[in-house]
Amino acid sequence: MSTKSAINAAVNSHTEWDPLEEVVVGTLANGVFPTWQESMTETMPTGSREIFQKSGGNPFPQEHLKRAEEELDRFAETLRSEGVKVVRPDPLDHQTPFSTPAWKSDGGLYAAMPRDLLMVVGDTIIESPMSWRCRYHEVDAYRSLIKAYFLQGARWCPAPKPQLTDNLWNANGESNSEWAITEFEPVFDAADFMRFGQDIVAQRSHVTNAFGIEWLRRSVGPDVTVTEIDVNDPHAMHIDATIAPLAPGKMLVHPERFKMNPLFVEWDIIEAPRPMLPTHWPMYFCSPWVSMNVLSLNPETVVVESHEKSLIETLTKNGFRCVPVDFQHVYSFGGSFHCTTLDVVRSGGSGKYLWSPPAPRKPTRRKTALAD
Ligand code: ALA
Repeated sequence: MSTKSAINAAVNSHTEWDPLEEVVVGTLANGVFPTWQESMTETMPTGSREIFQKSGGNPFPQEHLKRAEEELDRFAETLRSEGVKVVRPDPLDHQTPFSTPAWKSDGGLYAAMPRDLLMVVGDTIIESPMSWRCRYHEVDAYRSLIKAYFLQGARWCPAPKPQLTDNLWNANGESNSEWAITEFEPVFDAADFMRFGQDIVAQRSHVTNAFGIEWLRRSVGPDVTVTEIDVNDPHAMHIDATIAPLAPGKMLVHPERFKMNPLFVEWDIIEAPRPMLPTHWPMYFCSPWVSMNVLSLNPETVVVESHEKSLIETLTKNGFRCVPVDFQHVYSFGGSFHCTTLDVVRSGGSGKYLWSPPAPRKPTRRKTALAD
């Protein structure tokens, strides 16, 4: 996998902050409730079990979905007005049930969160082996884009197709594992990783196992170091409401989930203020902390949800220009600006931004005067 600078390539992105030139913005078109599976228990808000069990495969509430889709469209327009080329996935039918020899799903989900599924590392598009069965065919919505990028010279690297049999689940109460998934096969969501040039930071979660992290580590090759960090999040699923690197040396963090790590010793750590979402707002998939799931357009500019006044103030004080966009209806479906996008081109090459321990010195052979 080439992570060397590939300026002018159709796909080229090494960090979360270099100037954004081309991006995928997801769509909620035809989105349906996911089909419940037990491994969701630890990560989904209370109440989602009942809704997903009852409504899996059925369309989301249409009025709310319509408002959210309008927000996505306006977000895409804002990005265009900031000079970014925006492309969108295909609006597929997500309502059709499907099965493998081992299991059935009442339907798919949506194509709203490309960051969960796809990762760009240098000139390579990686397809994640996601552990939610209902997301098994989600990549189909992006395949025409991926094929076009491949034909323009990008590399295309799908992870091994997972089986997602019951062997992957740590049944509740039957295991001491802190995670809902086992090490049966490699699985991960791309949103459990953050790109820092020559380093990628990963978190273990209820959708990402050690096998998955190791698969990615070997697949990206020796030019990129994948390091797992410890976070304070018993419900871990997606690292992008825990850390948000915004510029070289500047990172927004969740005040409780983030644990300091020597990797970030030279970085300014900015604590995100509490989210400002109204109480009782429908949140089917995640916590209101998607408030900090912002999108960096370049090292000086960040897209932030317009109602998050405290966050806008915090970022402004730290020298950023904030571009406010309404996105609370999108929050309900599981993410914000980082989740709903996939960087395709960010100008610039790779670089070293995180601390790493000095390489062990090779022992030097002492010259000894041997007696004859
Ligand atoms: N899992 C993260 C949260 O709910 C995104 O805050």
